[in-house]
Amino acid sequence: MENKIVLSGTRPTGNIHLGNYFGAIENWVRLQDQYECYFFIADWHALTTGYAETDVLRKNTLGLLADILASGVDPEKATIFLQSDIKQHAELFLLLGMNTPLSWLERCPTYKDMIANMSSEKDIMTYGFLGYPALMAADILMYRANYVPVGEDQSAHLEITRELARRFNFLYKTEVLPEPQPLFTKAKVLPGTDGRKMSKSYGNTIALADTPDEVKKKVMGMITDPARIRKDDPGHPDICTVYAFHKVFNEDKVPEIEEQCKGGCIGCVACKKMLQEKIAEFHTPIYEKRTALLQDEPKLLDILRQGREKASKKAEETIREVRKAVKIGFDTIEE
Ligand code: TRP
Ligand code: SF4
Repeated sequence: MENKIVLSGTRPTGNIHLGNYFGAIENWVRLQDQYECYFFIADWHALTTGYAETDVLRKNTLGLLADILASGVDPEKATIFLQSDIKQHAELFLLLGMNTPLSWLERCPTYKDMIANMSSEKDIMTYGFLGYPALMAADILMYRANYVPVGEDQSAHLEITRELARRFNFLYKTEVLPEPQPLFTKAKVLPGTDGRKMSKSYGNTIALADTPDEVKKKVMGMITDPARIRKDDPGHPDICTVYAFHKVFNEDKVPEIEEQCKGGCIGCVACKKMLQEKIAEFHTPIYEKRTALLQDEPKLLDILRQGREKASKKAEETIREVRKAVKIGFDTIEE
């Protein structure tokens, strides 16, 4: 166990799908044995785009927690908490906001993308949405995280976090906020059931919350190599979604499948059936765990309560030093 701190969060915007699982959660399970880990449900971040739909927050939060736990993240090893429980994130966000140049936020690639792709459906031209990276910086710096596991999509935010930490330390002549490093972990890449990127907005996901029956239907309905009509047509596994899934769920058999597919010795239905069984071996136990967890709400609430306690200790410590560095608040006046 290394004496380093890892922090990561995920927004409660819907059910975790296999893309999220292999992109992030699987890593959390590994990291919790190696580092002091803080994993949180970013409900304030969900408000940056979903401020008008707060009725779904409770269900999404508990569902996400059940997904995380069923995947093997262990509250005995990692601190799991709800962002909005730790009000210090809001205070640090405010203080960072005072010296965050607007240009850093406006030029952030995720911001530009979202504005270009989304503004027709939802009004996200808000102060909160623009400030998203500063809130994320507050989340990270609050726990003085050494590492943040990041994929492509979050690396610009981490860069802003690092710049904000440097700026804060420079302005207030302090070293309170260490610069976090990105942790580039090898993630397995899974396409969606239609071969595009797995994404809720494409409707091509397989969720941990899907019933085993739904999963089976989705797998059996996957698109394969369109050139294969009869079993003895030679196939092109590299363009086949089923094959991409085999690489993740059925690694040992990949060379064999490739050969049989190219040689026209295996039919696509049999090939999918084989995959479906492998996915079920992985998915069904997680599905059953998450279902059982959701039936035990007191237990879920208790985990959030415990996490809140552990996280707030650390957050109080940081915010006390931050206030001292900024020279603001009663404590610093009294001293
Ligand atoms: N922005 C992240 C996402 O959309 C969630 C998040 C919020 C986060 N704060 C964070 C991730 C801090 C890592 C560290 O997925
Ligand atoms: Fe894809 Fe398997 Fe059919 Fe080949 S045999 S095209 S890998 S489903």
